[in-house]
Amino acid sequence: MSLKEQVDITKLPKHIGIIMDGNGRWAKRRGKIRIFGHENGVRAVREAAEGSAELGVDYLTLYAFSSENWRRPQKEIQALMNLLVRTVKREMKTLHDNDIRLNTIGDIGKLGKDASNSLQKAMEETHDHKRMVLTLALNYSGRWDIAMAARQIADKARSGEINPDDVNADTIEHFISTSGMPDPELLIRTSGEHRLSNFLLWQLAYSELYFCNTLWPDFNRENLYQALIDYQSRERRFGQISEQLNNK
Ligand code: FPP
Repeated sequence: MSLKEQVDITKLPKHIGIIMDGNGRWAKRRGKIRIFGHENGVRAVREAAEGSAELGVDYLTLYAFSSENWRRPQKEIQALMNLLVRTVKREMKTLHDNDIRLNTIGDIGKLGKDASNSLQKAMEETHDHKRMVLTLALNYSGRWDIAMAARQIADKARSGEINPDDVNADTIEHFISTSGMPDPELLIRTSGEHRLSNFLLWQLAYSELYFCNTLWPDFNRENLYQALIDYQSRERRFGQISEQLNNK
């Protein structure tokens, strides 16, 4: 039985998050500069997006540029932004062919005019696509996301639209950047690192975490299927005990 056939499509996560890691090491192993790894990471983005959409995953969220990534050498940041603009333009056909809607989370206004304009255009052009929502987390961090939600809630409290005594987890859910999406049931991180690196901190509260050693540019559909098979072998208890779940 192929790996794809081993995935139970009746038990898919609705939302998968991926921390794409290992581009730099992939390039270094080949004696190339880091951006060569990022350029080759685009193929893996396509594999993950098409593979998820084909199976029937509703939401895929990729950590493409963290708020902390601004600390990288200026040359690498510029190359990453250029790659982003080129990729968004080049992959429009992939998005249309697969009926995928592009979305972003993060402070994209600060990415520069070229990047934010091309993302805006791609989001508008794919707005009516229904099969899957592909969200790129750009200039994003989980703490920024929670802080922005808190700021909006404070604004509403100040103007009297929200009673501070009524603020609870649902209020945060409403103002967080992924509002309207289910939380990711599965988080994948490549390259053997076992960290969350400030990604979707609020939303990952109950997610199953899957770490693999594959470097991001080598990630393909088979790796995705492997992650899903592993996820499907786990029991998600949400604080309950095994017997309670089995009695349902
Ligand atoms: C992490 O690898 C990767 C990134 C910070 C950038 C991700 C970008 C891509 C996959 C390419 C373009 C993507 C889109 C959506 C157009 P790293 O550089 O931290 O690798 P290292 O840990 O080996 O140094």
